[in-house]
Amino acid sequence: MSTAHPAAIDSSPVWFAAGYPLRAHNTFGIEARARLACRIDAEAALTEAMRDPRAAGLTTFVLGGGSNVVLTRDFDGLVLLMALRGRRVVREDADAWYVEAAAGENWHDFVAWTLEAGMPGLENLALIPGTVGAAPIQNIGAYGLEMAERCASVRAIEATTGAVVEFDAAQCAFGYRDSFFKREGRARYVITAVTFRLPKAWQPNAGYADLARALDERGGAGEPDARAVFDAVVAVRRAKLPDPRVLGNAGSFFKNPVIEAPQFDALREREPQIVSYRQADGRVKLAAGWLIDQCGWKGRVLRAAAVHERQALVLVNRGGATGADILELAQAIRHDVEARFGVALEQEPVSL
Ligand code: EPU
Repeated sequence: MSTAHPAAIDSSPVWFAAGYPLRAHNTFGIEARARLACRIDAEAALTEAMRDPRAAGLTTFVLGGGSNVVLTRDFDGLVLLMALRGRRVVREDADAWYVEAAAGENWHDFVAWTLEAGMPGLENLALIPGTVGAAPIQNIGAYGLEMAERCASVRAIEATTGAVVEFDAAQCAFGYRDSFFKREGRARYVITAVTFRLPKAWQPNAGYADLARALDERGGAGEPDARAVFDAVVAVRRAKLPDPRVLGNAGSFFKNPVIEAPQFDALREREPQIVSYRQADGRVKLAAGWLIDQCGWKGRVLRAAAVHERQALVLVNRGGATGADILELAQAIRHDVEARFGVALEQEPVSL
């Protein structure tokens, strides 16, 4: 089973005029321009773009769906618009399908395609905005699943040499909203494809409270199938999270903070209602949305930026917000959460 790669792909980068507008390339919908930009439709184009004299001395930044970025100013460098396409089953054994997707594939469409092709396993991650190539960078996760659990390998190109490197899952050093590619590998590698391992012994992963409730309400007596989980995830996300095409946002703006057990015990004495999740290592993850909500920030507005009224962890652009507006709002929230709970919030999207 495979879908053909497009017959005529451009193996050279497609260059755009200087001052390229980025508003359509970031889900916050922030206005900013890039000094230079080109579209990458083939791996060869990537190497060619990075070796082009126009790129010499410029910082480069790869934009896929732009769903995890805050543009704070015009970008004085080269933006590589990731448009590599293609998805196929590369291998199948008794236990699993191995499915590869190119970095520029839309994440949700890819999830839907695997399901339609009878290869479940990614349904909990339905409707996450962005591209396949961005997924490993912050190890996207939702409703009880992280992509790390389904990742077999990541293919990347080393920026300085053009060498193709294949990283297995261990080398990706995945953590909660974290990976090698978010840290040491960030400026060094450009991800071009990801291979997923989808086990044939599929089990529903329906324990997450919101998801379990949605499945219940949908009257799924007995074990839900993968399609039912997919539909329920889509319904929960639509109910809680703003659609970036309607209201600019980058999903959760902060990570859920993880604190040491003694700090948590002291905190719970003062705040008995605190929402928390004990981690395998004994530390405790807190729901940042709850902390922010308790500080009274849900629905509050700062110029054109605001806190979403149904999910306090999501900051939104009400129209015309700048990156500075968003960051100022974030700073005010961080200040209040720190003052009340003594907990520091870490920003999830990258500021550029
Ligand atoms: N809560 C509040 N008030 C709020 C928001 C949340 O009290 O305004 C409480 C909820 O009632 C719940 C808890 O906080 O008890 C957790 O809320 P939720 O289930 O909505 O999930 P989350 O922890 O806020 C995380 C991920 C989301 C992911 C959901 C579902 C992070 C930073 N965020 O949010 O991921 O979709 O769980 O798994 O880990 C993203 O990373 O961009 C993202 C959307």
